[in-house]
Amino acid sequence: MQTRMRIAVVGATGRVGHHVAEVLAERGHEVVPIARSLGVDVITREGLTEALAGAGAVVDASTWPTPDEAEATRFFTTAAANLHELGSAAGVRRLVIVSIIGTDHFEGGYGKAKFAHEKATLAGPIPSRVLRAAQFHEFVEELVGWATRDDVATLPDMRTQLVAARTVGEALADLVTAPDSEFTPGAAGTLLEVAGPREERLPEAARLLVARRGDDLRIEVGSDPNDPYSTVAASGALLPGPDATLGGPTYAEWLEANVPVASR
Ligand SMILES: NC(=O)c1ccc[n+]([C@@H]2O[C@H](COP(=O)([O-])OP(=O)(O)OC[C@H]3O[C@@H](n4cnc5c(N)ncnc54)[C@H](OP(=O)(O)O)[C@@H]3O)[C@@H](O)[C@H]2O)c1
Repeated sequence: MQTRMRIAVVGATGRVGHHVAEVLAERGHEVVPIARSLGVDVITREGLTEALAGAGAVVDASTWPTPDEAEATRFFTTAAANLHELGSAAGVRRLVIVSIIGTDHFEGGYGKAKFAHEKATLAGPIPSRVLRAAQFHEFVEELVGWATRDDVATLPDMRTQLVAARTVGEALADLVTAPDSEFTPGAAGTLLEVAGPREERLPEAARLLVARRGDDLRIEVGSDPNDPYSTVAASGALLPGPDATLGGPTYAEWLEANVPVASR
């Protein structure tokens, strides 16, 4: 455990970023939250030099959610380049990003862009680590929304070990404050993964969500064999390896604690 550090959290208003900021602050670190809504932009660099001044470490949990590979790659590689350039000028000594388990299996789209993000980050110069996470419990609702046409949501039969964003936030906080030995070139090649306690199927999780909300939405399974995302998702490639850090709650437990039962 590092002594008190000043740590910039990029994407500090997001699903996982706000947990990272909260956990680090609870542990006594000084957090500099970064987001466009807070006046700091990791792409245009607006306010970035000022935000990174005096920071010893950065966690990047920002994103540009688009299925377009070129657009997403541009976002992530630009963010990595800006954080390395302005971060090293500011004296930042470690950079941690959050990626997605199995991202190296995608042949296109957002998943492939995240792989480019990993490579651009690990290229340095700031010593960097990547933490790959499973799909967040909080993300199921968004996936259902994207897949909904009229009163039907058609979802791929995704095998995923859904995890709470808070659990990922804790793992990111652990990593960015880990001993210096975790930030050597040798350590950087080690795959780090965090996932929930058990494998789930996305359509099943969506049915639990819909039942809890009391919706009339019908969930259907629709894996398109020509869609590389569905194929990778159904293949099990998004499941964690044997060395992953696993942490609760399960999706059902999380729903019970976070999504109110609809009153009808
Ligand atoms: N969602 C999942 O299930 C999941 C699973 C595994 C890994 N991940 C990874 O986790 C990361 C975060 O995902 P999330 O779902 O937590 O994202 P999110 O909720 O959409 O949050 C994105 C954050 O990025 C900030 N942001 C966007 N553009 C920015 C910019 N130009 N400069 C500074 N901040 C910017 C947003 O704030 P403003 O809009 O105010 O700028 C927001 O705070 C992503 O890299 C994603 O690939 C996500």
